[in-house]
Amino acid sequence: MEKRLFDPSYLDCADLAHGWHAFTQMQEYAGFPQVHIASGQGCWIYDTEGRHYLDTNASIWTNVHGHNDVELNAALTNQLSAIAHSTWLGLSHPNGALLGKQLATLAPDGLTRTLYSDNGSNAVEIALKLSFQYRQLTGKPEKTCVVGMENAYHGDTFGTMSVSDNPTFHGRFAHWCFEKITFPAPQCSEWNGVEHSADDSRSIQFLIDLFEKESSRISCLVLEPWIQGAAGMRLQPRYFLRTVADLCKAYDVHLILDEVFVGFGRTGDFFVCKQEGVTPDFLCLAKGLSAGYLPLAATLTTEKIYSAFLGTFDSYRAFFHGHTFAANPLASAVALKSIEKLDTMIKSKQLKNTIRYFGNKCAEVFEGHPHVAEIRQRGLACALDLKPVDKDPSRRFPIGERRGFKVCMKAREYGLLLRPLCDSLLIVPPLIINSAEIDFLFENTRMAIEETLAN
Ligand SMILES: Cc1ncc(COP(=O)(O)O)c(C=O)c1O
Repeated sequence: MEKRLFDPSYLDCADLAHGWHAFTQMQEYAGFPQVHIASGQGCWIYDTEGRHYLDTNASIWTNVHGHNDVELNAALTNQLSAIAHSTWLGLSHPNGALLGKQLATLAPDGLTRTLYSDNGSNAVEIALKLSFQYRQLTGKPEKTCVVGMENAYHGDTFGTMSVSDNPTFHGRFAHWCFEKITFPAPQCSEWNGVEHSADDSRSIQFLIDLFEKESSRISCLVLEPWIQGAAGMRLQPRYFLRTVADLCKAYDVHLILDEVFVGFGRTGDFFVCKQEGVTPDFLCLAKGLSAGYLPLAATLTTEKIYSAFLGTFDSYRAFFHGHTFAANPLASAVALKSIEKLDTMIKSKQLKNTIRYFGNKCAEVFEGHPHVAEIRQRGLACALDLKPVDKDPSRRFPIGERRGFKVCMKAREYGLLLRPLCDSLLIVPPLIINSAEIDFLFENTRMAIEETLAN
């Protein structure tokens, strides 16, 4: 049985006969060699055939301290020997309580309350529902509308699809989604710590006009601050968030910040909002919260919002939304240890130095590269838009040629597990990546690009 489990052809058959992978055209998937991941160590993951790859997307943007980290493992197994799961519905446990306190300490002043769930979509869904219910409880039920930014991605539940702006992912389900107002995204070109161009005037003017006319019916505005990850690492000017926050405050619009991707060190500190001196009404966290170990998410909010929900049982002011594995003790144990380790990485400047090296190396390899139309990089997040070698810099490959995908398949031969978004390569390594691994990452990405796109 043991042997069969790790026999790649047996796994291929089981996977192809019974698996259905998310965000994957299964017809295409079946035509390529399958990779079955068996183990991981640091930034590397190993398949069942003994090949190893650099985890260049941090296992979908979650991994902070690498795989199989000794201290995170110890935190997990210590908790495992006590209890694996106990509900958070009306019951508490030490890890959940301590993590709530820790998050309140790390977050901008005023975000004192944590509602747990188990994935990023739910963290945003909860923030939306809290905002809507708060409006009902405080005598403004007419404030029902949501504002979201162009190209946003907040998840795949109906609430989060409604406030996202990704017709490729969600267009088919528009009929079942609720109304929202989309405002134009700002423009920002940045890599290697230099903002090459930035303009948020259209976005800000749109919001001013909108709030001036319609704020009486708007409950909240949802934003991925600094970087829209799933839109292909689209960046915002750094001061943009502060302006949006000021407008929201002035017009009584709740600000929901979705830091599911950018939180927990991705941009050099725990949270973007803290770096910008902004306290949102809701802060949504997941992914790096539990360092890529186990599902865990949190929605933080203020005492003002929290206290509106208080009352007797039969006032029915309570928030009727919860998930079975919310605040799972194992995940919370890992989160507590991960936060302690990340704090050291930030205070010691290790993370800052890694980001600087990452940006430098990216620029060294890809600035002016004939197959790269645009680099977008801030923190340990980078997108490279691929293009044909052509005098016209705006020309792109026909989408059906699947060039980005083919580059990623080629990259496997060079020891990289890369994920494309159409013809953009998204590079999001674990935060502990070292300089030799960064060199390996960018040099081998370049070789995979050149070998694939030359033909
Ligand atoms: C900014 C942002 N919000 C929400 C989500 C959804 O998170 P999950 O996949 O955990 O539901 C994602 C996922 O990539 C994300 O990037």
